[in-house]
Amino acid sequence: MKIPATNEVSLPARIEVERRMLDRFMLRYELALQEIGARIEILRREFASVHEYNPIEHVSQRRKTPESIIRKAHRRGCELSLDSIGTNIRDIAGIRVTCSFSSDIYRVASMLVQQPDLEVTEYKDYIESPKPSGYRSLHLIIIVPVYLSDRVDRVPVELQLRTIAMDFWASLEHKIHYKYSGDVPRKLRDELLEAAEDIDRLDRKMERIHREMRDVKILNGDAEQDSS
Ligand code: GTP
Ligand code: MG
Repeated sequence: MKIPATNEVSLPARIEVERRMLDRFMLRYELALQEIGARIEILRREFASVHEYNPIEHVSQRRKTPESIIRKAHRRGCELSLDSIGTNIRDIAGIRVTCSFSSDIYRVASMLVQQPDLEVTEYKDYIESPKPSGYRSLHLIIIVPVYLSDRVDRVPVELQLRTIAMDFWASLEHKIHYKYSGDVPRKLRDELLEAAEDIDRLDRKMERIHREMRDVKILNGDAEQDSS
């Protein structure tokens, strides 16, 4: 849409045009979140029904606010036009999937990645290689097709997958980071790093117990079948 030159229209009319352009720009991210959210819900329901097991504990979504988009554009030295923001800021839409176990994270990610009309443009495995802070999660940027009346809009969505324990750590660390405006005292940073490693050990232990339980269930199931 072309913005009329300042001398052609009044200021209120110009503001109204820009407001509508911003609404339309933000809508594509809302629709992309709806689309990917529906696909995740389908996987969750089908998995629970077929395998009698639910790999997804919780799903949350958020869109960056225009204020937060502008802050990020400033940080990145990105031009303040919708075109440039759309190209350079890839996490305007974000969806977070919390799983029980690490293996579920990779299972859910691979089920999504295999969908032929989804394109993965970024895959950052902070579980394999945690951040120096101790942060762990799997991050993907997925290009989601949004089928509109006259075209298909391809919209980037940041997908974060983590375990409940990783999520517990990340939300506390985020609060601390915010409280200290990013300048967290060394002692606290060390303690957080230690807690992240404890959480990693706990995740591995829970995964082991879960696997043992599943093996027992399979064995019992076989035994029941043998005796019937
Ligand atoms: P930004 O998107 O500008 O933050 O950087 P990036 O593109 O390098 O993204 P990255 O994939 O590293 O992380 C993006 C998001 O992951 C953040 O917005 C947070 O939600 C989360 N995240 C990354 N690192 C940390 C961390 O050390 N602690 C916490 N609590 N969250 C983090
Ligand atoms: Mg990012």
